[in-house]
Amino acid sequence: MIDGDFVNMDNTSVSGIMHQGGTILQSARCDDFKKGAGRQKAFEQLKEAGIEGVVAIGGDGTFTGAGIFSKEYNIPIVGTPGTIDNDLIGTDFTIGYDTAINTAMAAIDNIKDTANAHNRLFIIEVMGHDAGFIALRSAIATGAEAVLIPESKTDAEKLIRTLKINQEIKKRSNIIIVAEGNESGGAFKVAEKINKNFPYFETKVTILGHIQRGGRPTCMERVRASRMGMEAVNALLEGKSGIMIGQVHNDIVFTPFEEAIKHNQEINPVLLEMIEMLS
Ligand code: F6P
Repeated sequence: MIDGDFVNMDNTSVSGIMHQGGTILQSARCDDFKKGAGRQKAFEQLKEAGIEGVVAIGGDGTFTGAGIFSKEYNIPIVGTPGTIDNDLIGTDFTIGYDTAINTAMAAIDNIKDTANAHNRLFIIEVMGHDAGFIALRSAIATGAEAVLIPESKTDAEKLIRTLKINQEIKKRSNIIIVAEGNESGGAFKVAEKINKNFPYFETKVTILGHIQRGGRPTCMERVRASRMGMEAVNALLEGKSGIMIGQVHNDIVFTPFEEAIKHNQEINPVLLEMIEMLS
């Protein structure tokens, strides 16, 4: 927007991209948009190009900027939640999250095969700087022994206790999933602490990293993203602005930008308990 780098698009512009990850728009974080001068330039470019409404795709940062911009210049903006973190209020699932947890799950399954073969303890770091949703669901789905997330305090003693019990019952492997934003400081730090206190297992660290941010979108993701995109355009046509489209219990809901980014969705404590029960 700031550079006025607009491309006219019609139905054919999006044909054949359904199975791709990433973005053909190549949109990304933009520091200039955080400044008043940058936003003014963006508004002037939109005006000059005759653009009357904007669909903003993103998470926290995108909606913070969109909220300020739409108020500053009275330009209609509707958001669709695009982030692998699933950390927005007003939608059960953000676009990208389902694909990311399935990618993480498949990678952890592979690691578990080799962990079982060699009696190893794997500390696997998944994405989620401020949110533990990827860690939590991928941990449940792979039968991990423990999960460390930013939303809850790490009980190191309990973790060591679990590992000791697993040693006694001769568990063949242990998988600990760590969200990158956990207070313990990432997978390598966790491995260091465990090795110091509990040298029984041969410990290995894997950082899954950016493989979680690409790849073929899952079926649910494609359906949800298509529906949210359609609803965003309809909302603009109906004169709505300053809201994010979300899907809650299969219904489309609208949440003001400020609400959507206010705080992270809460972690369901039952899911945390499940990890202890099932491992
Ligand atoms: O906010 C989404 C997210 O995927 C976080 O989970 C992660 O910490 C971050 O983006 C990675 O960002 P970048 O690709 O800029 O390193």
